Amino acid sequence: MTLSILTAASLNGVITPARGSTGESLVPVLGTPREVLEWKWQVRRRHDAVFVGTGTVLVDDPGLTSHALPGGPAVRVTIDSAGRIPRSARFFDGSARTLVGVSGTTSRDYLDFLTERGVEAVLAGESRIDLRRFVAALAERGLSKLAVEGGGTLNRALLAEGLVDRLYLILIPAVLDAGSVNLFEGAGGLARFRLEECERIGDYVMTRYLAVE
Ligand SMILES: NC(=O)c1ccc[n+]([C@@H]2O[C@H](COP(=O)([O-])OP(=O)(O)OC[C@H]3O[C@@H](n4cnc5c(N)ncnc54)[C@H](OP(=O)(O)O)[C@@H]3O)[C@@H](O)[C@H]2O)c1
Repeated sequence: MTLSILTAASLNGVITPARGSTGESLVPVLGTPREVLEWKWQVRRRHDAVFVGTGTVLVDDPGLTSHALPGGPAVRVTIDSAGRIPRSARFFDGSARTLVGVSGTTSRDYLDFLTERGVEAVLAGESRIDLRRFVAALAERGLSKLAVEGGGTLNRALLAEGLVDRLYLILIPAVLDAGSVNLFEGAGGLARFRLEECERIGDYVMTRYLAVE
């Protein structure tokens, strides 16, 4: 099992311009080169699925299929034990294999909705999702290489569980509001990484880090 965090962050480690707003809104503002997006899509294609947190689905309403080559696979994953994601979300548009982590407290109504939409409900926890159990259940379904695209709360929770193997970090040439969402949101202990790769595209720095014990 390999879990990589794939994210863009500002020079001060922030991933979205304001709480409740999407990081994607920065692309036109900053004039992000197409090559930066291509780099991100290539990383996605080297993984079996893209995994995002509920907060990211609620704010960004992502489709998570833009990286797929014609006829190529796109698999998207989230967790939503409380059934908070609106049924009109792009996540449920049927355009890709879709999996949602659920728990013993997830409502029957929401589970029925997921079944109707052809979404795979992955049971992983009694009330909250047990991230270790969830990641193991995904591997059993053939998804053993995960690209996690945040947000900061999910990134932190995965790091705290010792589940993060790699960090693909796109350094955005800007400083953003420090009150917004951090790449690893909230408190936590020291976590060390080793730089494996570093590439420059215009004013952007594309990096790959390996988590070290
Ligand atoms: N710049 C970028 O590359 C980028 C990428 C992605 C997202 N973003 C931005 O990030 C923002 C959203 O980030 P966010 O931090 O608010 O939300 P988030 O990380 O997307 O969602 C948090 C999710 O993690 C779950 N979680 C947290 N701790 C957990 C634990 N210990 N065990 C199990 N599950 C746990 C929460 O579950 P519960 O609901 O059960 O607590 C919730 O479903 C958006 O503004 C988005 O635009 C930016």
